[in-house]
Amino acid sequence: MTSVRYSASAGLAHRKRWGQYFTAPAIADFMCRWILQGGARAMFDPAFGLGAFHQATRAIDPAIPFSGTELDENILAFYQQNGDGSPPLIHWTDYLLHWSEIRRPGIVCNPPYLRFQRFVNRKEVLAAFQRQLGVKLPGYTNIASAFLLKSLSELEEGGRLAYLMPLEFLNTGYGETIKQALLENGLLKAIIRLDCEKEAFPDAITTLGILLAARDGRRDPVAFHTASRLEDLKKILNHPAKALVPPEGLLPSEKWLNRFETTRHDFSFPDLRHLNYYGTFSRGIATGANAFFIVNQRRAEAMGLSPTHLLPCISRSAQVTGGVLDEAALQGLLARQERLLLVNLVAPLDETATAYVAWGEAEGFHQRYLTRNRNPWHRLEKRTPAPLWFGVFSRNAFKVVRNRARALHLTCFHGFHPHHEMEPWIDYLFLYFNSRAARTILGRNKRRYGDGLEKFEPNDLNLALAPTPRWFSRLPEELVRHALSAPDDALPPELEARFDQLLLADPPP
Ligand SMILES: C[S@@+](CC[C@H](N)C(=O)[O-])C[C@H]1O[C@@H](n2cnc3c(N)ncnc32)[C@H](O)[C@@H]1O
Repeated sequence: MTSVRYSASAGLAHRKRWGQYFTAPAIADFMCRWILQGGARAMFDPAFGLGAFHQATRAIDPAIPFSGTELDENILAFYQQNGDGSPPLIHWTDYLLHWSEIRRPGIVCNPPYLRFQRFVNRKEVLAAFQRQLGVKLPGYTNIASAFLLKSLSELEEGGRLAYLMPLEFLNTGYGETIKQALLENGLLKAIIRLDCEKEAFPDAITTLGILLAARDGRRDPVAFHTASRLEDLKKILNHPAKALVPPEGLLPSEKWLNRFETTRHDFSFPDLRHLNYYGTFSRGIATGANAFFIVNQRRAEAMGLSPTHLLPCISRSAQVTGGVLDEAALQGLLARQERLLLVNLVAPLDETATAYVAWGEAEGFHQRYLTRNRNPWHRLEKRTPAPLWFGVFSRNAFKVVRNRARALHLTCFHGFHPHHEMEPWIDYLFLYFNSRAARTILGRNKRRYGDGLEKFEPNDLNLALAPTPRWFSRLPEELVRHALSAPDDALPPELEARFDQLLLADPPP
C-alpha cells in the first residue's frame, strides 16, 4: 500500500509534524458515497495527502472531477511518483490561508490533527477567519476544527460535506464556535462516533468520528450513531440512531458527546448541586522544569537544601496508592527516596539557594518555556495544599485522594479548595467521588479519549454534580464514619445503595 511505503520513507516525526494519518478505504468509501448520493458532481479534498478520497471517488464514479489542496511538498512529490496514475488537480497551498469565492458541491476531508500549540501560523489564520467569516476563533482551536469551519463556509447550496476528525471539540469550550456553525441552517445531519478507532488508526489516542453536513435548507434532526466495526458503516444510516435531536434541541455550550450514551440516567435533580457550590477545582502546579524543582531527600541533602527550601509535593499520580495521603504515608515515600520535595526558593535567597539557582542556570532550566516567562524564573505559582485531589486521567475508576498530609501536588491531579463554610463536607465529597453513582453522574462531564482513557479539566469538575449538604446530612453518621475508617476498601454496600438513589429519582423538570 502506498501509505505504508510513504510512512516508512517519511518517518514518524515528519508525519506528526504535518498531522498525517491516512484514511482507511472503508471509511473513505462511506464518506465519498454519502456525498455523491446527494448529487454532488465534483469533489474537493482540502488535505489531500496520498489521495485516499480520490481513490474512493474514482472507484465509485470515475467521471467525477476531483481537486484539492495539500501543504506538504514531500507528500505531494511522493504521490506524484507513486500515486494511482490519474493526477487530480491539487494546489500546493495552505488551505487555511487560501480563501476564494469558489463554492463547492462536495467536500470530503480528513484534516491534519495538530494540537493548537503546534498550529504554526495561528495568528495569521485567526486573522484570516476574522476577516473572511467575521468569526473570532478561540485561541485553543485546533487545525482540524479550523478546517471544518472553513469548509462549511465553502459548501455550495445543495452541497454535501463529510469530515473525519477527532470529536473532542464536541465537549470543549473552543468547540462552541464550530458547533454553532454546524447548527446554522440545519447543516449538520449526523455524527458517527467510531468506536473502532484502533482498527482505523492504530496510533489514535482520541475519539474519532465522521461528521456529515448538507446545505439543503432543511432542519432535519441530527442523528448520533456509533460504529463498533468499520464494517458497520455500510448500513449505519439505516439503523436507529443512539439519539435523534432537532437542531433547536442542541446547544453549542452543551457537551455533545453525552448524546451517544444509550443509558441516559435521569438524576435526582433536587438533591444535586454543581460542585462549584462547595468550592473550586484547579490544576496542580506546573513547574516547567521538574528536574530542577522536584528532588528526593538524598538529592536535597547533596545540594545542601534544608526544610526551609522545600515543600512536600506529590509529583506523580502513582506515588499515591491509597485513598488517603497522611503524614505516615508521606514519610514512607520520603524514606523510599521518592521525588516529592518541591524546591521553593523565597527571596532574599540565602547562600544555598543562590548556589542552587546558579546550578539551575548552568543547566539551562531558566530558559524553558514556563520558566523564562517568570520573574524570577525560579519563583513557583503560589498554591496552598488542597484537601481533596482528583486524578486528571482515569481509565476505569476515578483516582480520588484525601490529602491529610497537607502536601502540594503537580499537574497529575486537580486540587479541590472548598469555600470556608463548606469544609465540613470534604469527607462526604470524598466518599461520593468513590461511589459508583458518581461514576455515572460525573461521567457526563468527562472527555473521552481513545482506548478508554478519560480526562477531566478543572472546569469539567466544577460544573459536575454532587449531592446537596442536605442530602449528605441525611446519611447515617455511623455509616459515614465506618466508610472513612477504611478509605482503601470499596464503599460499604449500604452506602453505595444510598448514593445510587441519586440516579433513580425524579427526572429534571
Ligand atoms: C490527516 S492527513 C489526510 C490525508 C488524506 N486526505 C487521507 O485522508 O488519507 C492530512 C493532510 O493534510 C496536510 N496538511 C497539513 N496542513 C495543511 C494545510 N494547512 N493545508 C493543506 N494541507 C495540509 C498534511 O500534509 C496531510 O497530508
